[in-house]
Amino acid sequence: MAHPRAGSQVARDPHLIYLEKSFAMTFSHDLLVFGASGKTGLHVVRLARAAGLRVAALLRPGRDAEALERLDCTVLRGDALNASDCAAAFAAAQPATAVSLLGGRNEKGERVDATGNLHVIDAAQAWQADLRFVLLTSMGCDEQFAGMPEQVQQLLGEALRAKTQAERHLRASTLTWTILRPGGLNDMPAVGGYLLSDYPTAESRNYLSREDVAQAVLDALGDRTRAGRAQTVSARPAA
Ligand SMILES: NC(=O)c1ccc[n+]([C@@H]2O[C@H](COP(=O)([O-])OP(=O)(O)OC[C@H]3O[C@@H](n4cnc5c(N)ncnc54)[C@H](OP(=O)(O)O)[C@@H]3O)[C@@H](O)[C@H]2O)c1
Repeated sequence: MAHPRAGSQVARDPHLIYLEKSFAMTFSHDLLVFGASGKTGLHVVRLARAAGLRVAALLRPGRDAEALERLDCTVLRGDALNASDCAAAFAAAQPATAVSLLGGRNEKGERVDATGNLHVIDAAQAWQADLRFVLLTSMGCDEQFAGMPEQVQQLLGEALRAKTQAERHLRASTLTWTILRPGGLNDMPAVGGYLLSDYPTAESRNYLSREDVAQAVLDALGDRTRAGRAQTVSARPAA
């Protein structure tokens, strides 16, 4: 049954195009994902669906939704750089939890890591003040930045500063949040585990599988005892 709030927002927002299917199927979801079309995001959706969760995702207009639709994920169209699109996504998905893996910039050079995440966090808080929320950022954010090698600071400084802005906004929110900070990612198959720590460790220098990071995201979502913590995610050495 269509949700009246979602229906009226779609009508008011000409740039927000909901796929016919998702509009007709507006109902509550267990999880709303921002960045679901990305390499890690797709793993998050796949693992969440395999666990039986009802999943919705915000996808930019024009982006290919086939992989998400094949997973039976509700696809909502919008741009995270647009605050009203984020608010409309929460109204349409009615999620019990949310995760953001947003990263990168648009053709104008605007970083979604900061602006987009700020919009998502504000929209999440407006939807439900204490919503369970996981933000995927990066090792080297905030208090970890000074300890990063100079080359990393130069190469990733802009992205890390943008992600730090998002982390600080989340910490200041009323959401039931956890921040996950992975090291370098690769597309190797999962090793079936990962390490969590408060600070980077020797293992944090190794690349870790996006699939393992996706599992770390889902595990964090399901574990409220980790609320209010920023945890570094590192590769578990293969057995
Ligand atoms: N690469 C690494 O080694 C590394 C290390 C540590 C942390 N990270 C961070 O971990 C996260 C996941 O990494 P990844 O490699 O899986 O990322 P990715 O493939 O680049 O995915 C980024 C996601 O953000 C979405 N996005 C970007 N701008 C958007 C906007 N304006 N509105 C809505 N969606 C938008 C992208 O959607 P589109 O399909 O529309 O582009 C995509 O789904 C990222 O935040 C990344 O910065 C990466």
